[in-house]
Amino acid sequence: MAEQHLTESSASDSGQVSESQIAVHWREEGYYFPSARFIGQANASDPGIFDRFSEERFPECFKEYADLLSWDAYWHTTLDTSNPPFWKWFVGGRLNASYNCVDRHLEHSRNKAAIIWVPEPEEESTQAITYQELYRRVNEFAAVLRDFCGLKTGDRVTFHMPMIPELPVAMLACARLGVIHSEVFGGFSGAACGDRIADSGSRILVTVDGYYRNGDLIDHKVKADEALEAAAKFGQEVDKVLVFKRHPGQYASQTPMVEGRDFFVDDIIGDYRNKIVEPISMPAEAPLFLMYTSGTTGRPKGCQHSTGGYLSYVTGTAKYYQDIHPEDTYWCAADIGWITGHSYIVYGPLSLGTTTVMYEGVPTYPDPGRPWRIAERLGVNIFHTAPTTIRMLRKLGPDEPAKYNYHFKHMTTVGEPIEPEVWRWYHEAVGKGEAVIVDTWWQTENGGFLGSTLPAVHPMKPGSCGPSVLGIFPVIYDEERKEVPAGSGRAGNICIRNPWPGIFQTIWGQPERFVQTYYEKYCADKDSKDWRDWPYLAGDGALQAADGYYRILGRIDDVINVAGHRLGTKELESAALTVNEISEAAAVPVIDELRGRAVEMYVSLKPGLSPSEDIQQKVVEAIDREIGKIARPKSVWIVADMPKTRSGKIMRRVIAGISNFADVGDVTTLANPEIVEDIRHYVQSEKVQRGEEPRPLTPEEEEEIKAFGKAE
Ligand code: WTA
Repeated sequence: MAEQHLTESSASDSGQVSESQIAVHWREEGYYFPSARFIGQANASDPGIFDRFSEERFPECFKEYADLLSWDAYWHTTLDTSNPPFWKWFVGGRLNASYNCVDRHLEHSRNKAAIIWVPEPEEESTQAITYQELYRRVNEFAAVLRDFCGLKTGDRVTFHMPMIPELPVAMLACARLGVIHSEVFGGFSGAACGDRIADSGSRILVTVDGYYRNGDLIDHKVKADEALEAAAKFGQEVDKVLVFKRHPGQYASQTPMVEGRDFFVDDIIGDYRNKIVEPISMPAEAPLFLMYTSGTTGRPKGCQHSTGGYLSYVTGTAKYYQDIHPEDTYWCAADIGWITGHSYIVYGPLSLGTTTVMYEGVPTYPDPGRPWRIAERLGVNIFHTAPTTIRMLRKLGPDEPAKYNYHFKHMTTVGEPIEPEVWRWYHEAVGKGEAVIVDTWWQTENGGFLGSTLPAVHPMKPGSCGPSVLGIFPVIYDEERKEVPAGSGRAGNICIRNPWPGIFQTIWGQPERFVQTYYEKYCADKDSKDWRDWPYLAGDGALQAADGYYRILGRIDDVINVAGHRLGTKELESAALTVNEISEAAAVPVIDELRGRAVEMYVSLKPGLSPSEDIQQKVVEAIDREIGKIARPKSVWIVADMPKTRSGKIMRRVIAGISNFADVGDVTTLANPEIVEDIRHYVQSEKVQRGEEPRPLTPEEEEEIKAFGKAE
């Protein structure tokens, strides 16, 4: 198992020019080592663990993760591969996720904080919710879902909730009943939520009247009305909307409550006071939740995660890779509306019986010292965030961490590649040189980490996620399914050769798309029942250094990773096309110092119309309305025509090249090559005027831009 064992740092990578289709030139970074103090207390510090999880021990090795849970019935088959690639884990086993995250901790930790919630306004007090209190709240809300809403095992319910403690309570209440929750990120628009309500077939929506973001109390309930309208267009009726109140006794929204449809939870919960709802013993392979994400086509993908496999995987990885002990105070500053929050704010940490911190608002509000005040006050010792947030905090408050007396033993980064200089600030300033860092690579589809260093065992290397995690066996293939070897300096498509317990089960309602998107490309034999013939295509470009460490380069499909959020170009383009004046639209990524990537839209107008700021504004508003403000484009360029191939396809790589001041490649085969210079002149002179010229791109970024749109 080469990737689990380190060799000397490979200088051979640097400066090597290969003949492959994608040659990547990057400097090899030096190693950083965990402290003896960290190693001495770590959950996993014995390299013997790699033998326990070796390929020969697969799939039985994952018993070690499953044994961290409390099972009502043990499984008879660890991995059932009879219907590839619809793998089943721990078949015959029964358990309840809510029981595992709540009830089982009561005996020893009844009055320990399960969740500490920090509201955004600093003058509002922090709420500590003990395991006992969580147990009460989860039971009462489960009773509401079952008895007031009539939900039963297997039904879906959509949440459109921001970072308030009612969200994990509602998730765990569903899990108690075997009801499948589908949380839509609070920042998404009503229309985007409506799409997901319809796709999942939810008849119940759970929301809140308002929440704080950057100092403002946002009206959130208004989005519920928009969501229901959008869902109805797809023929999905919603029976009830449950509305939590951000401030008890007050209503923060301007929209009226609809009689017989909208209910304040405050008004009904009293009827269920002290109700106990016995956790339903679920089959291991019963779905626990859906999490929607973007892909190449416009329809979002509802990734379906299982109960036993998923919970085992997040519990095991949180224990070994985040080094969570029950005594720790752990803060993951992600949003529960994304997979990171599901796995590593709610399910993993609570299953391990630790204290998990939830923060409502923006990390830089009211100033960039806020996260460090929270850490100091609560005694946080494990911290977890995304490169975007790190870049922002570094830019706005580089010296803030030193002003506060907190000490992290461990820090995680997730969601995007992290630049080595940003990594070093994270290590030196935020981690005070004491904390170990794991750069975790994984995806909504995966349930938990795929690539990371094992913190007490592997040294860290800025800019690389590290080797694959325990029980994960990757391979990098080129387009011809030839393996791209470690240390070759070449990149390819990273795949995972084996199934693992956290892998999603299917795309809700789209099993063909599941097979096609993730397994078709490299499947060796479609009739084979052997998992070895079914590598999972992650959808990222990557390369592996001679030491076994992976460097993830980014998406190979038409997905733009803005501040760690996956946005599909098709979704952006169809939003722009809802504007009457627009005839064609193309979304491309631009390198952005803070957000990693930002979106720029190119649009052309219907005949006879002339460009105006008004039309540009309408495109921005359409994207806000259809997707949400997170997707708001940096610029909207109105062009006379798009660069196109002779068959009429828009050449996104050409406009992406223009937007990034990069090489546009060969344009001589285009149907309208003359347009390229016009667009370049218009866009780049405008950018120069606005002072938006980007820094020169790195070779990897050049490659990314050149490859953009390749998936079509
Ligand atoms: C990217 C987030 C580099 C990658 C958990 C992946 C990363 C997509 C890293 C998934 C990392 C995630 N280094 N790139 N450590 N982690 N990515 O589904 O392109 O929101 O495919 O899941 O983010 O994003 P998603």
